[in-house]
Amino acid sequence: MIGRLNHVALVVPNLDAAVAAYRHKLGAVVSAHHALPDHGVTVVFVELPNTKIELMEPLGENSPIRPFLDKNPSGGMHHLCYEVDDIIAARDKLKAEGARILGDGEPKIGAHGKPVLFLHPKDFFGTLIELEQA
Ligand code: CO
Repeated sequence: MIGRLNHVALVVPNLDAAVAAYRHKLGAVVSAHHALPDHGVTVVFVELPNTKIELMEPLGENSPIRPFLDKNPSGGMHHLCYEVDDIIAARDKLKAEGARILGDGEPKIGAHGKPVLFLHPKDFFGTLIELEQA
């Protein structure tokens, strides 16, 4: 069911510092900042030949990644995003298998303007998984 790895998402405490490190130390191509108030994050994408790395910092007081940063003050890996062809079919199959979908279970529009869902990390060995309809 899952297809390509779309991106790996890292939470960072300071997006400007992270962008500078990826651009200048690692020599990567990094996108402009995208503020996503609905998701409580500001993101950039590091464009690699085979995938993307999403760097995120909290946006606003109620950012859902604030608790992650409180637990991991220097930042860390937040989630993996796998592509699926049909997000509703994927959700229904996962629910039938007993996996938990975060939130209200309905796809939301993610950072790339495409529908996404998140799966409970306890059902997948401690890793938060995002599914994106590619
Ligand atoms: Co993501």
